[in-house]
Amino acid sequence: MRRLVSETTLRPRQLILPMFVAEGAEAPRPIGSMPGVLQHTRESLRKAAVDAVRAGVGGLMLFGVPATRDARGSGATDENGILNVALRDLRAELGDDTVLMADTCLDEFTDHGHCGVLDAAGGVDNDATLDRYADMARAQAEAGAHMLGPSGMMDGQVGVLRRALDDAGRTDVGILAYSAKYASAFYGPFREAVDSQLQGDRNTYQQDPANAREALREVELDVAEGADAVMIKPAMTYLDVVRAVAENSPVPVAAYNISGEYSMVEAAAEKGWIDRERTVLETLTSIRRAGADLILTYWAAEAAAWLD
Ligand code: PBG
Repeated sequence: MRRLVSETTLRPRQLILPMFVAEGAEAPRPIGSMPGVLQHTRESLRKAAVDAVRAGVGGLMLFGVPATRDARGSGATDENGILNVALRDLRAELGDDTVLMADTCLDEFTDHGHCGVLDAAGGVDNDATLDRYADMARAQAEAGAHMLGPSGMMDGQVGVLRRALDDAGRTDVGILAYSAKYASAFYGPFREAVDSQLQGDRNTYQQDPANAREALREVELDVAEGADAVMIKPAMTYLDVVRAVAENSPVPVAAYNISGEYSMVEAAAEKGWIDRERTVLETLTSIRRAGADLILTYWAAEAAAWLD
């Protein structure tokens, strides 16, 4: 009877697996603060991606960890940069079997760790960054991404990406916009995952956790600029925002169940304080119940196998 009247579905196709690939890695490297998550080699990435798609996940979101960094984040736009190389690997391997997505942001590639390029005063230069994102969009589309994930929270980034793609004849490439991305302490483990060089914070471009209305405005702007789907991030501490956006958005809504959310559950489960599988499924179900159509989660492949 519970199955008959259950209101919320959780299906493998609704899950997107974020994955990390490290340039020059000879073996997969464990990420200490994210037990079970790896910085992949090109080869181990390929295998893990195939396994995840076989398990039924709806998409993959790829992050690159370069061997060298500079102020402009050159590796992000270099066709031989690790993210673009890995996109080509996965597109060749998987074709259209999954939705292949890429993080369209500079922070993994800059030596200062910010999501954009800096001005003379050391602040992030919004408009100069947009030019870099346009180059990155072209490179990622060329490398085989089906969908781009602009995560840098620069004003106007969705419109600039859409125009860059259209001008390159790539009307087929979609945009999953990180519309409402909060300046969150829960990103801590991700910084280890990508060897982030960041000193300080991202408060000049990511949102204040105190603000909900601002998220609706950001979503509205991104939709007007051409977003095909919008994202709220983090998920667990922003379920009210997910709900509000789901009630207003004309496009699919994604939520990113981020690194710190993953690590908290893993740490408590490791101590035997909570039941891991039940907690994971309850977490994902609650994000769906709040109104997210799609969930980016490091548990995607494992949860997909459980749900199958
Ligand atoms: C920025 C980016 C971040 C995450 C995804 N894209 C880090 C940040 O904004 O500091 C975080 C993901 C996670 O914590 O799981 N390119």
